[in-house]
Amino acid sequence: MILPILIYNNPILRKKSINITSSYPKLDNLISNMFETMYNANGIGLAAPQIGLNIRLFIIDLVSYIQNNKILLKKVFINPKIIHNYGEVMNLKEGCLSIPNILEYVKRKSHILIEYYNENWNKHIEILNSFEARVIQHEYDHIEGKLFIDHLSFMKRELIMKKLISISKGEITPNYPTH
Ligand code: CO
Repeated sequence: MILPILIYNNPILRKKSINITSSYPKLDNLISNMFETMYNANGIGLAAPQIGLNIRLFIIDLVSYIQNNKILLKKVFINPKIIHNYGEVMNLKEGCLSIPNILEYVKRKSHILIEYYNENWNKHIEILNSFEARVIQHEYDHIEGKLFIDHLSFMKRELIMKKLISISKGEITPNYPTH
């Protein structure tokens, strides 16, 4: 089932999310709905707050973005904890399904050490880098109540303010269901 995606200025996007337990109701169903919602919007990551749930859960699927990929890049992150961000500072363009039509450069560290549970509640501790680390840091921000525009300079944010106001008024509508 495709779920509506919450758009910029919805207060749910600004709340810090909480951990869940393995008895969380219909978790498998929720995860499959999140993938369907993300694919429908041509996204590569989606966090639970974006569909209205303040729980520590996000998904990624980078397969279509990386050629000749042999690594599993379709992943579910439950109760993730980024223990360490380190390495080179990379300045790359980001967008967000909750902030349509805005792409801006964001500086993030190249590597992360992350602990999480997958959809089968197997615990993972991994060092990730490159594009995967980038997308995960973006999604992780969502469960902390942050958005990528928070990383922009005051000047840059002023420059996109008009666009942000239009988005929050529903004047800029993407081609996927929003709420
Ligand atoms: Co986002």
